[in-house]
Amino acid sequence: KPRPKLPQHVVLVGPPAAGKTTLARLLSETFDVPMYDTDAMIVEDAGPIREIFRRDGEPAFRRIERRAVDSAVRTVAETPGIVSLGGGAVLDAETRAQLTSSGVTVVYITIDAATVAARIKNSSRPLLADGSAETPLEQWTRLAAEREPVYREVADLIVPSSSVSPATVVDRVTAAL
Ligand code: S3P
Repeated sequence: KPRPKLPQHVVLVGPPAAGKTTLARLLSETFDVPMYDTDAMIVEDAGPIREIFRRDGEPAFRRIERRAVDSAVRTVAETPGIVSLGGGAVLDAETRAQLTSSGVTVVYITIDAATVAARIKNSSRPLLADGSAETPLEQWTRLAAEREPVYREVADLIVPSSSVSPATVVDRVTAAL
């Protein structure tokens, strides 16, 4: 979709364990701009994410997340910076509207289940927890498939990251911006 491109005003979206936080850190070093991780902002404000899910439930988490996303996206719309968005943030309609109207460049980091498999073994993510009928990888596969159209809807750029190093993904993102 057409929109003004602001190359150093970047929001990374994609499923859990796609490496968004690592990439945001590397991109912020590359461009020498600040990074904002919405999960980390939530933890600072409200404590560990799995505690919020357990104590207050997912809808309460999404409300807290919405505030963090709003603040981070507003910031990088105004001044250069890189945002790493929690994997489920795009489920919120206001967040999608903000992403498509604020002039930031939204980069969808895609990744396959094989690359993710090793990373989510010891994940503390409540939506990828052991103890449900599905394995964590089955849960991941379902979430990634359900959300795929939503990630595509908000994305300006789609950058594959399966089975390559974070440095290679950084090169791909900077080449595409
Ligand atoms: C979630 C992804 C997590 C975190 C929370 C919920 C999701 O972020 O926000 O556990 O719904 O996919 P990451 O994408 O950084 O793992």
